[in-house]
Amino acid sequence: MLFSKKPKHLSLDPNRIPVHVAAIMDGNGRWAQKRGLPRTAGHSAGSETFQRAAEHLSDLGVKYFTVYAFSTENWKRPPEEVGEIMRLLESYLRRAVREMREKNIRLRFFGDLSPLPAELRALIEETDAISQTIGGMQANICLNYGGRAELTRAARLLAEDCKAGRLAPEDITEEAVSARLYSADIPDPDLMIRPGGEERLSNFLLWQNAYTEFYFTDVLWPDMDERLLDEAIAAYQQRKRRYGGI
Ligand code: FPP
Repeated sequence: MLFSKKPKHLSLDPNRIPVHVAAIMDGNGRWAQKRGLPRTAGHSAGSETFQRAAEHLSDLGVKYFTVYAFSTENWKRPPEEVGEIMRLLESYLRRAVREMREKNIRLRFFGDLSPLPAELRALIEETDAISQTIGGMQANICLNYGGRAELTRAARLLAEDCKAGRLAPEDITEEAVSARLYSADIPDPDLMIRPGGEERLSNFLLWQNAYTEFYFTDVLWPDMDERLLDEAIAAYQQRKRRYGGI
């Protein structure tokens, strides 16, 4: 082939690839509206972009990729849109069950999954089981997730442990809180990408993002291709991380 359709990649420092990348997949609705399509077409394009992004980050050597797919506040959207997002997740997971071993990407789910449709929960269980056998990059999909809800849950778990005599209040350390978050066994994000033009956290990974480097762009999520992800990582590689030191 004379011309490759794949966008040209930036040269990145292989020694400074972020271990954990997080993304808020914002701008799907506007992407669709700009094309005269229903908002749900934007979510559909957004789920394809998620898959491409996961494969690209895995190729670069990223170990964890965490995305905000459905927040605790997203239930306020029109029921047709909520239903369509749930259907999209189901069809995504049906495909993942068949393909995730070949792609060597395992899936995990952060959030309160109990109010999700039964069919979706069954698929989540199926992908969870397959994930145990996969050694590659871990993609965490946040579903019915909110940072405040996650911290409230951790506080409740700590209180229960104290009440049962398993934990003394003076043993409530930062590690004890971290251990009760959905992300208990993984490192905090190094880089958080928010496309879609808004520059806020929107209740995403409130605890985990304490020292994360943020990258904001006006590009809409469905347009975040490999080259634009590389640009975000290149910007991250220019940052000096001080963690409160000098
Ligand atoms: C935010 O864009 C996006 C969402 C609330 C839904 C994201 C869900 C998916 C991409 C579907 C499936 C996900 C996976 C992981 C397979 P918005 O609707 O707020 O966009 P807008 O700001 O342009 O209105």
